[in-house]
Amino acid sequence: MDLKYQVVTFGCQMNEHDSEVLAGMMESLGYTHTDDINECDAIIINTCCVRESAENKILGYIGNLKRLKRINPRLIIAVGGCMVQQQGAGEKLKKRASHVDIIFGTHNMYRLPQFINEVRHGGQILEIVDEECEIPEALPIKRQGKIKAQISIMYGCNNFCTYCIVPYVRGRERSLAPETIKNEFIALGNEGYQEVMLLGQNVNSYGQDFDYAFDFADLLKTLDETGKISRIRYMTSHPRDFSKKLIDTIYECESVCEHFHLPIQSGSNRILKFMNRGYTREFYLSLIEEIRKKFSYHSLTTDIIVGFPGETEQDFKDTLELFKEVEFDAAYTFLYSTRSGTPAAKMPDQVASEVKKERLQQLMEVQNAISLRINQRLVGKFEEILVEGTSKTSERTMTGRTRTNKIVNFPGEMDLAGKIIPVKITKAKTWHLEGEIIDQMKKN
Ligand code: 5AD
Ligand code: SF4
Repeated sequence: MDLKYQVVTFGCQMNEHDSEVLAGMMESLGYTHTDDINECDAIIINTCCVRESAENKILGYIGNLKRLKRINPRLIIAVGGCMVQQQGAGEKLKKRASHVDIIFGTHNMYRLPQFINEVRHGGQILEIVDEECEIPEALPIKRQGKIKAQISIMYGCNNFCTYCIVPYVRGRERSLAPETIKNEFIALGNEGYQEVMLLGQNVNSYGQDFDYAFDFADLLKTLDETGKISRIRYMTSHPRDFSKKLIDTIYECESVCEHFHLPIQSGSNRILKFMNRGYTREFYLSLIEEIRKKFSYHSLTTDIIVGFPGETEQDFKDTLELFKEVEFDAAYTFLYSTRSGTPAAKMPDQVASEVKKERLQQLMEVQNAISLRINQRLVGKFEEILVEGTSKTSERTMTGRTRTNKIVNFPGEMDLAGKIIPVKITKAKTWHLEGEIIDQMKKN
């Protein structure tokens, strides 16, 4: 019988990538992917817990699956990853959602095939382990795209920013060996991939757990030298660890894109200290200055949390001022969300929800105007675009990204997908650009 599955992913790119491994494992068991959830024999949900809103969405989603289970009692439902790895969360889910067959954490994801085989004969499995284990190599993987791919270069985080649950659910930092990464990178190049995203919670501390000296800059250089992939990206960077050596290396490596994503989290020194971020506003500004001195062509994006405990009007003003001063190309803005078990959850002066929302609104308005202004400066300029496919809105419109990670939509044919082409920017929007293929390309 032809068994069908779906992996449903919530959360960050790290999770997106883990889901590619979960999908690979399902295929190795003989399951094939289906887009129709109604015909699934197994549904694997990879969860996130970075904010409460994500958890609520996931719990709602799991609740809705009860209906499918009633129609098809043989359906296997597995829930794994960050949300479940939280203290006591597995047991709670087991009680609350008896239609879930398998509950697993972040450290034992690779055991999914065994779990599936076991529950085929009935029963329920709850297995969460606290200890991070050796990262198993050579797991099967089913990549989502044929143009862009992701490689995990490290797992876990040692930073313990006071608001963040990640260090508790993902464990300590573990870096993959440079050789392993290089081999995967070369293989991707040979398969025709044009872009690779190197993933880690804090890629700048890559290699700190090795007993030899090899850091993230060395890794970038090694990968760039293979000449196998046109574009290398990485995420996420911690501003504190963004070294001069790294800036120079990015500059020298032709394939490393000129996009700097540096989460600031707050513009107030007082709040940065409460957050345990390990840098000041002044340090951050000098880092940006150094990058801007070196790179005439680049983009800069950030993450920001609004309404961290103790954030006063003045602290928020500091953030607003910093945004006006730096002029980010784009910002991912988040309302502070209390995560139980983190130090910030117990801090005094939690900010009222209404105040948080109002501040977020104000910040987004300031940022949107800046994003639009920066994008408008690009009108009339040429950009090198990696074409990803047709746009969401029209079959006749293609979409791609600049090296600076800006989305560009333009009229074109499907056979351009996967190609890197020059495009002239014709129109600027807040979140994307519009362009046209220059004449020479049209003829070819
Ligand atoms: N509340 C709100 N935002 C958070 N982030 C991490 N933890 C929280 C939290 N408790 C944000 C940070 C991080 C991004 C991935 O999510 O800005 O950079
Ligand atoms: Fe969370 Fe800070 Fe680690 Fe990022 S660096 S995952 S925000 S603890």
